[in-house]
Amino acid sequence: MVEMQKFLVFRKDSEDKEGRYERFEVPKRKGLTILEALFYIQDNYDSTLAFRYSCRGAICGSCGMTIDKVPELACRTQISTVKTKKKPVKLPEFNFGQTSNWNQENEILIEPLPNMEIIQDLVVNMDPFWKFYREVEPYFTRDWNDEAPESNQGSDAVKSIEHLVNCIACGLCWACPVNANNKEYFGPTALAKANRFIADNRLSEEHRQEILDKVWQENAVPACEKYFVCNRVCPKGVRPGTAINDIRDKWSKNE
Ligand code: SF4
Ligand code: FES
Repeated sequence: MVEMQKFLVFRKDSEDKEGRYERFEVPKRKGLTILEALFYIQDNYDSTLAFRYSCRGAICGSCGMTIDKVPELACRTQISTVKTKKKPVKLPEFNFGQTSNWNQENEILIEPLPNMEIIQDLVVNMDPFWKFYREVEPYFTRDWNDEAPESNQGSDAVKSIEHLVNCIACGLCWACPVNANNKEYFGPTALAKANRFIADNRLSEEHRQEILDKVWQENAVPACEKYFVCNRVCPKGVRPGTAINDIRDKWSKNE
């Protein structure tokens, strides 16, 4: 007989403003990911189950959700590891509804990403995330005196920003407690992205200063309270909290 994996999945739609949890069982197989389990639920139990995905390979950043109370990428998380792997320490409590009947030992809990408005089931409104992302203008422009994008960059220079370049804008680090309490906080992603450009040796001094000015305002770098939740949940090793600290250092050298 095929062994089954139990799931407790958060559901919410226009008819159910509070949200609820539903139970499903999915046949286990080696390598089965959370995303594949959600496809199974959609195909076999309820085609209305809403969740985002695209690449299925931890690149597009679409499939972020909270799995057993930890923000994760569904396509990169295998069901076999959920109960056994080491979880990030000191995460805030993410509450979406009443989970007192969750059997933590053998049931995988699936909830949306925290601190975002829920549109339906596991789909959240990422507009605020993108708003602040755009605010830092994370791209090279022709009207600046930058040397990019055609100019070469030495390997040391690439190395110094590589971890920041790896951000896939998945929004897992929006789990930051400052985002929970301050709707105007830029969030770790936008600030890490700002540092990806501030630290890029091809940027003109004028452009660098412009970005520094953008992120040195009440709800940006100075609002970070150094929880470092972002560093602990990031699936790509971007270390946004460390990037924010780097911006502080650069700013203090400016003064
Ligand atoms: S910094 Fe990490 S957690 Fe935050 S959006 Fe980028 S990849 Fe995702
Ligand atoms: S589906 Fe693209 S990151 Fe998971």
